[in-house]
Amino acid sequence: MKIFNNPNDLKEYRKGVKGNIGFVPTMGALHKGHLSLMERSKKENDITIVSIFVNPTQFLPGEDLDQYPSRIDADKRICELAGVDALFIPTSEVMYAHTEPMITVPNMPGYILEGLKRPGHFNGVLRVVMKLLNITQPTHAYFGKKDAQQLYLITNMVQSFFMDTIIVPCEIVRESEGLALSSRNAYLSDDEKKQALKISKSLKVATRALMKKEFSAANIKAIMMETMEGLDVEYIAIVDRDFNEIETIVLKHSIILVAARVGKTRLIDNLWI
Ligand code: PAF
Repeated sequence: MKIFNNPNDLKEYRKGVKGNIGFVPTMGALHKGHLSLMERSKKENDITIVSIFVNPTQFLPGEDLDQYPSRIDADKRICELAGVDALFIPTSEVMYAHTEPMITVPNMPGYILEGLKRPGHFNGVLRVVMKLLNITQPTHAYFGKKDAQQLYLITNMVQSFFMDTIIVPCEIVRESEGLALSSRNAYLSDDEKKQALKISKSLKVATRALMKKEFSAANIKAIMMETMEGLDVEYIAIVDRDFNEIETIVLKHSIILVAARVGKTRLIDNLWI
């Protein structure tokens, strides 16, 4: 596995490789969710490139930028074992100039849900993803459905700017009891982990209600809220695949999204229905 720290070196490498190029951008602290993206990329491409970069511009002041879990040696081993061809680990200094043009998310859906709770977050995400896609020029880039709004905005950016990458949405990977995998799960104590299970349980309860033909968004939200009693729920939202809030769930066209705090840790999860 080749390791690059400098964008220009990776660009040189990229020029020399042919065929389908899969790209998996990450912020490190790799878990099975990331691994599933790498495996899918390996299966669908000739070359797989992974990046590890804790992007400062997507963290708000007071968020967990300084505490964000970092396990770079373990991450390198995971990438090596997964058969990744090239790993990109840049610094902020090489990624950002002192002055540069900005990308701003569109009003909808950039400023609702995560965009409302974390103002500026998605501008930082789009900014870094644009840079990473320009450096790696992948044919395919892999993103988890757990960050559903991020996935939507990135797909929208790639289409809007006529970028030559296919954005591949990938399924959420969960622990056996249901907790969606996230690098931030590392912050949870054992007791908080048990509490956090209420989030995925609320989505299971929603699935059961849907199977009994309960399609009212208000009713589904109410039963989810009951399941998450004791958690600090930031929002439950039921939207169509373009992130418009809906009153009646239409199967295969809707997403149920949850954000909740467990102790100090903010977790998100969702269900594509
Ligand atoms: O989903 C993430 O881990 C990050 O937002 C991403 C896409 C790597 C950009 O920093």
